[in-house]
Amino acid sequence: MKKRVFSGIQPTGRSHIGNYLGAMKHWANDQREFENFFCIVDLHALTVPQDPAELRAATREMAAMLIAVGLDPRYCHIFVQSHVAAHSQMAWLLNCFTPLGWLERMTQYKDKAQKQVSVMAGLLGYPVLMAGDILLYHTHYVPVGDDQKQHVELARDIAQSFNARFGDVFTVPEVVIPPVGARIMNLSEPTKKMSKSDDDLNSTILLLDTPDAIRRKLMRATTDSERSILFDENRPGIYNLLTLYELFTGEPRAAIESRFAGKGYGDLKKGLAEVVIEGLRPLQARYAELTRDPATLDTILRDSAERCAVIAEKTLTDVQHVIGLR
Ligand code: AMP
Ligand code: TRP
Repeated sequence: MKKRVFSGIQPTGRSHIGNYLGAMKHWANDQREFENFFCIVDLHALTVPQDPAELRAATREMAAMLIAVGLDPRYCHIFVQSHVAAHSQMAWLLNCFTPLGWLERMTQYKDKAQKQVSVMAGLLGYPVLMAGDILLYHTHYVPVGDDQKQHVELARDIAQSFNARFGDVFTVPEVVIPPVGARIMNLSEPTKKMSKSDDDLNSTILLLDTPDAIRRKLMRATTDSERSILFDENRPGIYNLLTLYELFTGEPRAAIESRFAGKGYGDLKKGLAEVVIEGLRPLQARYAELTRDPATLDTILRDSAERCAVIAEKTLTDVQHVIGLR
């Protein structure tokens, strides 16, 4: 039996090349080795205010994007969280076995709560819903960014304390953090990570950016006052541009350095823009195709949700049983 991989993706916010190079591309490369669950977490999105029509549209767009980056429905269950009722049901049950203190300690909760005028109970319960997502599928590996590590550890703690009391009901998942080398930096401020939530639109290349937008953003990217084009981690702007070149072309670093030896930053930026545009072209074409044909996308989501529901309901029933329901 293949080991299981589960990850959740928030439907809100636009995907950028950092998400692609740091996460999605790895998922696609590794997909044949595992049974994969990629869940568009619309219930998690509800923990902060959302516009209903925007949330619905963003959920379908994220589904199309996951397929466009190369996740193949033959190897991956690509589904929407709210389509599988067991996620909500499991969250309630786990809420009754999770100490409040564990949740109040979560750094993301503290950050997000500070930014809201009125904090809803769901924001505190967010990691419990996430633990349920993972535990429902007897997940072995959870690939996530650094910021989600604490939540996956909480899922392990919940699983372990539950198992200690009721027997081996849950598989205890392991967190998988992508290699640091794939950290893509903000184009305007290259000491910061490229991020969905950035207000500066020039700082981030979106996966659906037009060729013109890509050229414009790269030409404006912050560099430094030196001249040489070398992979030097102490020069974050140039290092980031060269890393992008490396990741989009797969060329060895030495070959890239000699390609640009004696040339200027403008040449590097122009060359990089063309490489990024070509690299994103197939993905953008697939995305356009999928959005032109919503029926196909709906069928994929429905089939996945049906398959997931069978697995998830089995775990839910086991849990209900051991705690005295049913
Ligand atoms: P987020 O956009 O923060 O929800 O992250 C979704 C996934 O993309 C996570 O697995 C992150 O590790 C990855 N990711 C986000 N931003 C970057 C970045 N700038 N460089 C590399 N990976 C990133
Ligand atoms: N909280 C995660 C994030 O914002 C998304 C998520 C929800 C998730 N459920 C999950 C990630 C389960 C991994 C496993 O990125």
